[in-house]
Amino acid sequence: MPKSLEVYKCDVCGNIIEVVNASDGELVCCGEPMTLQTEKTADSSTEKHVPVIEKRAEGCYKVTVGSTLHPMKDEHYIQWIELIADGVSYTQFLKPGDEPVAEFCTKSLNATTVTAREYCNVHGHWKNSL
Ligand SMILES: [Fe+2]
Repeated sequence: MPKSLEVYKCDVCGNIIEVVNASDGELVCCGEPMTLQTEKTADSSTEKHVPVIEKRAEGCYKVTVGSTLHPMKDEHYIQWIELIADGVSYTQFLKPGDEPVAEFCTKSLNATTVTAREYCNVHGHWKNSL
Protein backbone atom coordinates (compact mmCIF):
# COMPACT_ATOMS: atom_id res chain seq x y z
CA MET A 1 0.00 0.00 0.00
CA PRO A 2 1.57 3.33 -1.05
CA LYS A 3 2.45 5.94 1.57
CA SER A 4 2.55 9.70 1.24
CA LEU A 5 5.76 11.06 -0.38
CA GLU A 6 6.95 7.62 -1.52
CA VAL A 7 8.46 7.59 -5.02
CA TYR A 8 7.63 4.83 -7.53
CA LYS A 9 9.09 4.06 -10.98
CA CYS A 10 7.71 2.12 -13.93
CA ASP A 11 10.40 -0.38 -14.97
CA VAL A 12 8.88 -0.52 -18.49
CA CYS A 13 8.54 3.12 -19.60
CA GLY A 14 10.49 4.99 -16.89
CA ASN A 15 7.61 7.07 -15.52
CA ILE A 16 8.40 8.24 -11.97
CA ILE A 17 5.72 9.43 -9.54
CA GLU A 18 5.57 10.76 -5.98
CA VAL A 19 2.53 9.88 -3.89
CA VAL A 20 0.63 13.00 -2.80
CA ASN A 21 -2.51 11.22 -1.59
CA ALA A 22 -2.02 7.67 -0.36
CA SER A 23 -4.80 5.15 -0.77
CA ASP A 24 -5.29 1.38 -0.81
CA GLY A 25 -4.87 0.91 -4.57
CA GLU A 26 -1.82 -0.65 -6.19
CA LEU A 27 0.21 1.68 -8.44
CA VAL A 28 0.35 0.22 -11.97
CA CYS A 29 1.94 1.57 -15.16
CA CYS A 30 2.31 -0.19 -18.55
CA GLY A 31 0.31 -3.09 -17.07
CA GLU A 32 2.94 -3.79 -14.36
CA PRO A 33 3.16 -2.84 -10.65
CA MET A 34 5.39 0.20 -10.17
CA THR A 35 8.60 -0.26 -8.13
CA LEU A 36 9.08 1.62 -4.84
CA GLN A 37 12.28 3.70 -5.02
CA THR A 38 13.68 3.07 -1.55
CA GLU A 39 16.02 5.81 -0.36
CA LYS A 40 19.63 4.82 0.20
CA THR A 41 21.56 6.58 2.95
CA ALA A 42 25.20 5.49 2.54
CA ASP A 43 27.52 5.46 -0.47
CA SER A 44 29.71 2.42 -0.92
CA SER A 45 31.45 3.66 -4.08
CA THR A 46 33.66 6.67 -4.65
CA GLU A 47 30.78 8.49 -6.33
CA LYS A 48 28.81 10.40 -3.75
CA HIS A 49 25.02 10.64 -3.70
CA VAL A 50 24.00 11.28 -0.10
CA PRO A 51 22.65 14.86 0.07
CA VAL A 52 24.58 17.28 2.29
CA ILE A 53 22.26 19.69 4.15
CA GLU A 54 23.50 23.05 5.43
CA LYS A 55 21.32 25.40 7.44
CA ARG A 56 21.86 28.88 5.92
CA ALA A 57 19.40 30.99 7.91
CA GLU A 58 16.19 30.50 9.90
CA GLY A 59 14.13 28.11 7.77
CA CYS A 60 16.61 28.18 4.87
CA TYR A 61 18.73 25.23 3.75
CA LYS A 62 21.29 24.52 1.03
CA VAL A 63 21.38 20.93 -0.27
CA THR A 64 24.40 19.68 -2.21
CA VAL A 65 24.74 16.26 -3.92
CA GLY A 66 27.01 14.86 -2.54
CA SER A 67 30.14 15.39 -0.42
CA THR A 68 31.98 15.67 -3.78
CA LEU A 69 29.77 17.09 -6.53
CA HIS A 70 27.83 14.45 -8.46
CA PRO A 71 28.23 14.50 -12.29
CA MET A 72 25.57 16.38 -14.28
CA LYS A 73 26.07 14.86 -17.74
CA ASP A 74 23.32 14.01 -20.26
CA GLU A 75 23.58 10.29 -19.52
CA HIS A 76 24.04 10.60 -15.73
CA TYR A 77 22.66 13.39 -13.59
CA ILE A 78 20.57 14.36 -10.58
CA GLN A 79 16.96 14.79 -11.74
CA TRP A 80 15.68 16.58 -8.66
CA ILE A 81 16.49 17.60 -5.10
CA GLU A 82 13.71 17.67 -2.52
CA LEU A 83 13.62 19.13 0.97
CA ILE A 84 10.95 17.99 3.43
CA ALA A 85 10.58 20.24 6.50
CA ASP A 86 8.03 19.11 9.08
CA GLY A 87 6.17 17.18 6.38
CA VAL A 88 6.07 20.00 3.80
CA SER A 89 7.82 19.12 0.53
CA TYR A 90 9.84 21.53 -1.64
CA THR A 91 11.33 20.33 -4.95
CA GLN A 92 13.96 21.76 -7.31
CA PHE A 93 14.12 19.97 -10.67
CA LEU A 94 17.51 19.90 -12.39
CA LYS A 95 18.87 19.20 -15.87
CA PRO A 96 22.28 18.17 -17.24
CA GLY A 97 24.76 21.02 -16.90
CA ASP A 98 23.15 22.43 -13.74
CA GLU A 99 25.00 22.33 -10.43
CA PRO A 100 23.68 19.49 -8.22
CA VAL A 101 22.73 22.09 -5.61
CA ALA A 102 19.42 23.59 -4.45
CA GLU A 103 18.49 26.22 -1.87
CA PHE A 104 15.17 26.22 -0.08
CA CYS A 105 13.60 28.76 2.26
CA THR A 106 10.74 27.06 4.07
CA LYS A 107 7.76 28.42 5.95
CA SER A 108 8.82 26.45 9.01
CA LEU A 109 11.38 28.60 10.86
CA ASN A 110 11.98 26.02 13.58
CA ALA A 111 11.40 22.71 11.79
CA THR A 112 11.95 19.70 14.01
CA THR A 113 12.45 17.29 11.08
CA VAL A 114 14.40 18.26 7.97
CA THR A 115 15.14 15.64 5.32
CA ALA A 116 16.72 16.07 1.89
CA ARG A 117 16.20 13.55 -0.90
CA GLU A 118 17.61 13.40 -4.41
CA TYR A 119 17.12 11.20 -7.45
CA CYS A 120 20.00 10.12 -9.70
CA ASN A 121 18.82 8.83 -13.10
CA VAL A 122 21.36 5.97 -12.88
CA HIS A 123 21.70 5.23 -9.15
CA GLY A 124 18.22 5.99 -7.82
CA HIS A 125 16.85 7.59 -4.68
CA TRP A 126 18.95 8.89 -1.74
CA LYS A 127 18.27 10.76 1.47
CA ASN A 128 19.82 12.40 4.50
CA SER A 129 18.38 14.18 7.53
CA LEU A 130 19.58 16.91 9.86
FE1 LIG B 1 24.78 8.75 -9.81
